[in-house]
Amino acid sequence: MNVLVLGSGGREHALVRGLLRSPRRPRVFVAPGNGGTQIPVAGRSALNVDIPADDLDRLAAFARAQRIDLTIVGPEEPLCRGVVDRFSAEGLRIFGPTAAAARIEGNKAFAKRLMREAGVPTAEARIFGPDDLTPPTDARERERRAAAVQRGFELACDYLLTRDEPIVVKAAGLAKGKGVFVCDDPAHAVRTVERLMIENILGEAGQTVVVEERLTGREASVLALVDGRTIYLLECARDYKRINDGDEGPNTGGMGAYSAAGLLPDGLLHQIEEQVFVPIVDALSLHESPYCGVLYAGLMLTPGGPKVLEFNARFGDPETQPILMRLRSDLLDALEATVDGRLDQITLEWDPRPAVCVVMASRGYPDAVQDGFDIRGLEEAAGAEGGSPDDLFVFHAGTKHVAGRGPVTSGGRVLGVTALGDSIDAARRRAYAAVSRISFDGAHYRGDIAAT
Ligand code: AMP
Ligand code: GLY
Repeated sequence: MNVLVLGSGGREHALVRGLLRSPRRPRVFVAPGNGGTQIPVAGRSALNVDIPADDLDRLAAFARAQRIDLTIVGPEEPLCRGVVDRFSAEGLRIFGPTAAAARIEGNKAFAKRLMREAGVPTAEARIFGPDDLTPPTDARERERRAAAVQRGFELACDYLLTRDEPIVVKAAGLAKGKGVFVCDDPAHAVRTVERLMIENILGEAGQTVVVEERLTGREASVLALVDGRTIYLLECARDYKRINDGDEGPNTGGMGAYSAAGLLPDGLLHQIEEQVFVPIVDALSLHESPYCGVLYAGLMLTPGGPKVLEFNARFGDPETQPILMRLRSDLLDALEATVDGRLDQITLEWDPRPAVCVVMASRGYPDAVQDGFDIRGLEEAAGAEGGSPDDLFVFHAGTKHVAGRGPVTSGGRVLGVTALGDSIDAARRRAYAAVSRISFDGAHYRGDIAAT
């Protein structure tokens, strides 16, 4: 069997590792992959294919030529650009939602309206700006859109000046984790909306904004496989979005995560399934966008119950690294059951031990970073604190393999050092012992992942 993974981050490395461990021994390709995705796992290796994850034409041609039996989409961009629609139209089997269903992530205004309609608990919000996030194609459309943006901006300012509580401003479109702004006062919120809608700091993605109440509480990530009908919750995780210890500094894609049995009590998980997943999956079906793939709910556990901060139409990064470290069942079987609408027939087995993932990032992340620094100590890290090699894995993300030199940094989040342990603390110690053996110029990581 031939499988193709799309993407190049730590999440994709975790998917590749899971597939290579499958007893069904699939041939695994990854487009484009990273400096670690070709390193052998359990004596088998994947092959990097030099095609960007959003070049749909070349990917479809490759999948046909190589007789790919199943493609698994990692990141959101190809999903929102319709990679699933395109592959399906060509008879190619693919794991992920269609572009229409992926709007649950790609358009926060759509997601908010759908949550309201379906009665899914979420922050109170107002939406300003045009409904459609796609760039205009002709002069008349451009003019109409500019007028809608201007009108939306004025309404947003009027609204914000009547508020005096902290407010969160979100760009409606995809922004690689940089589209959410927590504002302390109305002036800050107005300035943020101006930067998004008028100064276009995120292009069309920010010309429609969702302005919502600020929620407080602990955050949790709950992911489920969804095959259109059946919803199968995975073990949950918690991620750490801010760049610095103590949740200080700007939001990032995620600086670490852990997954542990009992992270959320069973009663709460059941409530999340009933109040969040069931109604939203039903609502997507009603809108003729049945959901197939992995659906990720980012939740705030408020004193008034769980509320949705966002939905993602894909596996989380870095949550996938600790979640899949704990998966004992065959990942390939689970993904195929999802695509084939057989989720009601599977049961996933999990390692009861917790897993902790610490992200090592480049200096300057989440802003621009310099690439090309040698990464040292990966082999020493593998022997950290004993344990079997199954209990520690260094996932590559922003890395590139340079012949004769080895892996070098190539991006903001460089590595995701992930360990299993008998307790959260033991997993944490094992992960940090490995981190301390790895070095590259400007390496930055949080010291408090899974500590609080
Ligand atoms: P999102 O991409 O929508 O999950 O937002 C990224 C991060 O911003 C979340 O993980 C939260 O930490 C924070 N955030 C988003 N929405 C809110 C909200 N309504 N209240 C408080 N924090 C929020
Ligand atoms: N870790 C957050 C995300 O994948 O969106």
